[in-house]
Amino acid sequence: MHWKSQENELALVKQATDCLILTDQQLCAISDSLSHEISAALAGPVDNSLHVYPTFISQVPDGCERGKYLALDLGGTNFRVLLIHLKGNRHSSVLNETYSISQELMQGHGQELFDYIALCLFNFVRAQGLLGQRLLLGFTFSFPCTQTSLRQAVLTKWTKGFSCADTVGQEIGQMLNRAIGKHQHLQIEVAAIVNDTTGTLISCAYQETDCRMGVIVGMCEQQRLCLNNDTGYFLGTGVNICYMETTCFDKQMIVNTELGAFGSGNKCLDFMRTEWDLRLDRHSINTGHQLFEKMVSGMYLGELVRLVVTDLVHRGILDSKVFALFSEPNCFITSYISQVEQDPEDSVTWENTRALLHSLGVLSPSAIDCKCLHLICTRISRRSAHLTSAVISSLLRRMSRARTVIGVDGSVYRCHPHYKTVMKDKISQLLQRLHCGHLEFRLMLSQDGSGRGAALVSALPLSEQSGPVSKCSRCREYDGLSGELDCRVCAVTA
Ligand code: BGC
Repeated sequence: MHWKSQENELALVKQATDCLILTDQQLCAISDSLSHEISAALAGPVDNSLHVYPTFISQVPDGCERGKYLALDLGGTNFRVLLIHLKGNRHSSVLNETYSISQELMQGHGQELFDYIALCLFNFVRAQGLLGQRLLLGFTFSFPCTQTSLRQAVLTKWTKGFSCADTVGQEIGQMLNRAIGKHQHLQIEVAAIVNDTTGTLISCAYQETDCRMGVIVGMCEQQRLCLNNDTGYFLGTGVNICYMETTCFDKQMIVNTELGAFGSGNKCLDFMRTEWDLRLDRHSINTGHQLFEKMVSGMYLGELVRLVVTDLVHRGILDSKVFALFSEPNCFITSYISQVEQDPEDSVTWENTRALLHSLGVLSPSAIDCKCLHLICTRISRRSAHLTSAVISSLLRRMSRARTVIGVDGSVYRCHPHYKTVMKDKISQLLQRLHCGHLEFRLMLSQDGSGRGAALVSALPLSEQSGPVSKCSRCREYDGLSGELDCRVCAVTA
């Protein structure tokens, strides 16, 4: 192609993808929408607002916690059993084993899933020579749950490919205890059920006393296999945030926002959803749900890039011969975005982008082909990082703490070359615009938070965090937050 028409190609790609750029004004509007959603949800959820979940954890560790605890971590197609030794000086050591969960178990009977989990736990405990020993266990169960106490959690819905139908509406702690009870020599007590965001917050707070927020920006399971990290395990497929709420309860409490669902009910994000977002949603297994997650999480970012590319090929902007391979759904996985963005935007050689395209079968991509793909990847990943920044700034403003450490995990945050820096800069800019420039924050990468965090919660003094805030006069079980009509246990079991 002649260089002039190549430059034209780039200009057209820029123009067509401008809709992916969000201005600070739009991001502040998103922060405001979230503030309203959270306030409404805490006052008592209405059908089309976000549902947020109190966790019954009202304190963070002080670093002096000691002892050996077990933890289970279930949040995707792998799950782990961990033995955590808390040493009392903000240090801990961890032994863990990863087990895979088959498709049949993910979609079969709930109790069979829990029986399998208990069997793996039994094998692990036996291998550690701990059979017969009484141990407390923290269970990281990363799905939306209504907690009735620290150790009781009713599953609201499955996400991330799970669909054991006989589990929604059931109490997870009971199902796990029932399964553990089938093994005579397992003397294990389920002391806490937590979300992965809560685990992240708590484990970071073990090291940094100012940690009050936990964030996961995850990636899909198949993509984990394409990456290497030191543990061989990547956390979280979805997106979610928890934070310490101080105004709504008698005492402070960590609240799980289940933020992946933001914008799904009241359509407050519709103004920025592009044709590609709509298409991705239409072809997903949960159309109309988890709309924020679908613009932010690594489970979807690669597919969004692919949808943009195929659309631009269809419109005659991108070269159909070069980008022919993009026609296969889900062929462009999110870790490819990280690989492309390893190249600087003014690259001459396009070393990483070329290597990727070569490996995918494109033998001689031009510099402009690489540049166009780089631009599309950058715009999709920036939008994700900016949206995450908007919701974090909103919660920082809500907490209004002079200094907050934010524990973050998830493969997108860990593996993307610029995500962290983009987030840091954007949160600062948005705080300024929201007149909260005086609030200091620090992003802290969590080290295996989902496992360690559950163990740490089990180690916190029970008197501080196990009881309901106030009892519902109807079911007599649960805090109604602001009265019987808002009781979520009643709402779930009605
Ligand atoms: C789940 C959350 C979880 C997040 C990250 C979402 O799909 O609903 O509970 O925290 O994924 O794993």
